[in-house]
Amino acid sequence: MAPIAKALFQPSPRLSLRRASVADLEAMLEIALAALPMDPQWDYRFPHRRAYPSDTRKYTRMRYREFLEDQNERWVVMLAEHRPAQDSREPVAFAVWEIKNIRKQKTVQIQLEKNLNVLHRPPFRQRRRDGDCKRMQAWTDTTSASKKLLFDSQFGASHFQLQILATHPEFQRRGAGGQLVGWGIQLAQCLNMAISVFASPMGERLYLRLGFVSVASVFVNVEKELESVVLAAMVYVPSGSSRPSSRKDAPMATEMSLIRLVRLPIQTRSAQGSFQGPASGAKTRENLDDIGGACPA
Ligand SMILES: CC(C)(COP(=O)(O)OP(=O)(O)OC[C@H]1O[C@@H](n2cnc3c(N)ncnc32)[C@H](O)[C@@H]1OP(=O)(O)O)[C@@H](O)C(=O)NCCC(=O)NCCS
Repeated sequence: MAPIAKALFQPSPRLSLRRASVADLEAMLEIALAALPMDPQWDYRFPHRRAYPSDTRKYTRMRYREFLEDQNERWVVMLAEHRPAQDSREPVAFAVWEIKNIRKQKTVQIQLEKNLNVLHRPPFRQRRRDGDCKRMQAWTDTTSASKKLLFDSQFGASHFQLQILATHPEFQRRGAGGQLVGWGIQLAQCLNMAISVFASPMGERLYLRLGFVSVASVFVNVEKELESVVLAAMVYVPSGSSRPSSRKDAPMATEMSLIRLVRLPIQTRSAQGSFQGPASGAKTRENLDDIGGACPA
């Protein structure tokens, strides 16, 4: 592990991590609704959230329930708890990881995604009064196209994604976010896989400190609108890996320092080759019976 990253997510005696369950849904929701509006994409996608806070709460709860009740091992949610005394614990931060590449259920997964898109997402969007339909669609189109272009094309199935990271504002800057990302970094090192993320400005600072590199800036924008949000597409590549480990080494970083993706179709394409699979000696995905405990620090 790179020394800087290790120093930053040194476990604190007052913080502990565990896998979240459905029982944690309301606690996650409180953290999310306090923290995520600090990320500019929140107001961009949900510009009417102040007029319709109950919709924001309702649809965020619905989405998080999907993460927590997921039967297909697509998502894993980790919770950071503050422990002011021996037997008191308070959830203060959480991270949602998309781990479908770690599991071997591709066929089921593709089917699941199709169903989600067709059955849930459009009606979901049209009903919510807090959001802007076109922007939400632009967000989904742009992030999914960028994921394919920037991450899947480079890493194939050898990356997993940090989807959401949030720390309650009262507990920010105390190391919870770093520990949650550190959990993923240890897993990435253990499996010799990369981590991908579309970072907010607050997240970007933290990820840079933990050894992630920025590979592109991704613009989310609806045609003919002036408003947009910019996300930093970032990767963490374990040290000692045969894959690029710094921005300087990453050919895609120099060639694709700025990608302007205004919904679909994609305007720029990388010509890079794919990356090699896990190095010999790395744990295989099949050996991972328990994501939470399979890779010791
Ligand atoms: C991004 C976010 C999750 C970080 O969570 P966090 O718990 O504050 O993260 P950490 O405490 O580990 O690190 C944050 C900063 O605190 C610093 N820090 C860590 N431990 C610290 C401590 N004990 N004392 C003081 N500062 C500390 C870190 O160095 C880091 O500094 P930096 O921002 O200058 O890089 C949080 O700011 C947040 O919820 N933001 C809104 C939502 C968002 O943007 N999410 C990211 C989406 S990609």
